This record gives sequence, C-alpha cells and structure tokens, in this order.
Amino acid sequence: MSEIIRVLSGIRATGKLHFGNFLGAVQNFVKYQEKEGTICLYFIADLHTLTTLDDPEELRKNLIEIVKDYLASGLDPERSIIYTQSSVPEIPELCIYLSMLQPLGELQTIPTFKELIRKFPERVSLGLITYPVLMAADILGPKSFLVPVGEDQVPNVELARDIAKRFNNRYGETFPVPNMMQDMVRVPGLDGQKMGKSESDNAIDINMPLEEIRARYLKKGVTDKNRIRASDPGDPYNGCKSVYSVHELVSEGEIETRKIANACLAAAIGCAQCKDVLVENIGKLLIPFQERRRELAGKDGYVREILHEGGKKARALISETVSEVREKMGIVIY
Ligand code: ADP
Ligand code: TRP
Repeated sequence: MSEIIRVLSGIRATGKLHFGNFLGAVQNFVKYQEKEGTICLYFIADLHTLTTLDDPEELRKNLIEIVKDYLASGLDPERSIIYTQSSVPEIPELCIYLSMLQPLGELQTIPTFKELIRKFPERVSLGLITYPVLMAADILGPKSFLVPVGEDQVPNVELARDIAKRFNNRYGETFPVPNMMQDMVRVPGLDGQKMGKSESDNAIDINMPLEEIRARYLKKGVTDKNRIRASDPGDPYNGCKSVYSVHELVSEGEIETRKIANACLAAAIGCAQCKDVLVENIGKLLIPFQERRRELAGKDGYVREILHEGGKKARALISETVSEVREKMGIVIY
C-alpha cells in the first residue's frame, strides 16, 4: 500500500485573489485534493499578513473572502483541511524552535526578503525577517511532503527544506524534506512583471466581470513592442510580455497554443484578436468559478464554521509534531 502524502499551502490575506494566485496556487490545491492518497491542508496565512497590513478590519474581511474563493474554486472542507494559521498557536511556537537552527545572515539575503524590502522599505521588522522561518513552521508542523506554490515562493520552500534537514541531523529523523511541484508557474500581470496583489494595477481580480478583464487586456496588456503594424510578424516567446505565456497556461492543450504562436509569428493574428481569444479562454475557467462564488456571497457564518472545524483538525495534527519537537529539543512543559 502506498503511503498517504501530506500536501500543504497557504495564501496571505493581503487583498483580493488575482488570476496569478488562481493559476499558480489555488488550481493546484484543488488538483491535489482530487488525488488519491493525499491529506491536504490549505490555510490563510493571517500572521504573515501582519508583516505588511495593519488594518484589522481589512485583514478580517480579506480572510473570509479568500476562503470563499477557495470554496468556489472547488476546495471541499470534507476533503481538505481549511484553516487559519492563527487558529494553531503551536505554529508560532514551532517557529521559535526552528529559528534556533536558522543562521540570521541567510535570512537577510533570501530573494523574497529583498523583494519585500523593495516593495515596503518602511516595514523592515523582525517579523518580516523571520517570515520564512514562520513559513517553515507552517510547512513542517503537519510534516508536509508537498508544497504547491507559485515560482516566486521557491526560496522560502528551499529554506524550509534546509531547516528540516538541519533538524533531522541534529535531533534525529523527524521531518520529511518537503518538495515542490515540477510544473510551477509565474503568471505575468498586464505589464509583463509578475502578477501580484500589491501591484494591483497589473493584476486581474478573479471576481472581475469578463468584459472588464477584456477591457483591461486590450488597454494595458503589453505585447511585442517591436510589432508596430498588424502585418509585422510578432515574437510570442520573447517579445510578448503579458499575453502569450498566459495562453500557454489557459488554452486547451499544446496544439491550441502552438496555433496561436504560429499565427503570431506569421502575422496572421493581430494582438487585439489574440487578447480576445485569451480572454475567452480565461472566461472558461473564471465564469463557472464566479457563479459558485456568487452563491457564497452572504454565507460568512458558513465560512467561519468551516474555519473553526478546520482549525481543530489542523491543530490536532500539528500539536503532535510540536510535542515531538519539544521532547527532542529538551523542552518540558511543567
Ligand atoms: P501576492 O504575490 O499576490 O501577494 P501571495 O504572495 O499571497 O500573493 O501568493 C499566494 C500564492 O499565489 C503563492 O503560492 C504564490 O506563489 C502564488 N502566486 C502569486 N502570484 C503569482 C503569479 N503571478 N504567478 C504564479 N503564482 C503566483
Ligand atoms: N509566503 C506565501 C506567499 O506569500 C504564503 C505562505 C505562508 C505559504 N506560509 C506558507 C505558502 C506555507 C506555502 C506554504 O504566498
């Protein structure tokens, strides 16, 4: 019999989910939930959110809205454990233990930290620097084997892998070394940079009406700058910044995407028409999602119940690991 694998991921409650979160993270969450032999844990990283958001009302609101996005995407509380990070106080406790194994210098050079300093230079707190260690506690607490995330999170998961190995070396085999997916993605925003919540002007909100998405792509989507006239051949692979690579992620299969690339290379399709096809394909994913999402509009109480039950389940799993860690490190609770 094959072993059950634990799959875990989280999203911060910093704002509305965008199409990058949807393709890079949430769709994969659903994929692993459907796989035989997995226990999936998906949470909202509310403690991590505090590194950059200090509006309590907004945090509370974002959190409930993101859980609704999880549910409308297909996450099923009967099959996945859905919870908030703060409902498991053993996670920050584990973060303290793991921080003893983490050299400080490494945290200062990690690319995700440098990126956050660039975006929020006024917010370089102790909480920000320990961000990846708290993330390692999220991951190692339930002894996760697989962490589905977008490409930008690779350095953080690498750090969790290193901490797991260090802990196992020092205190004996305890944690599986967590893995990432083979096929991680980085969805570009309208300006061709990574689509992100804090760069909302480049983002496509997953609850945005399709016509608004179309208008945004038509107006702001950056394509091949060297293609001046529609009769000029385009370069979908290197020149087109915000459209072609999204085609690769949403269009139905390789043949369909190759057709688009060839049409662009041969100047047989203009950028506006190409954006139109893209938005139609995005609609195939988002319209059914948005319909389910509307049904959850007034159901905050239901969402809170899910989080309450999920919190209890997650806490039971994670407490077990934290007891083992205390024991191994010599901590006794009198
Ligand atoms: P943001 O970067 O928008 O603030 P988060 O950091 O909360 O979003 O990311 C939540 C999840 O979504 C992570 O797994 C992250 O890797 C993934 N993600 C975010 N942006 C993208 C993107 N543009 N492409 C692919 N995955 C993404
Ligand atoms: N840092 C992640 C992000 O910004 C969110 C996160 C927190 C996370 N803890 C995690 C992701 C554990 C995966 C596993 O997207």
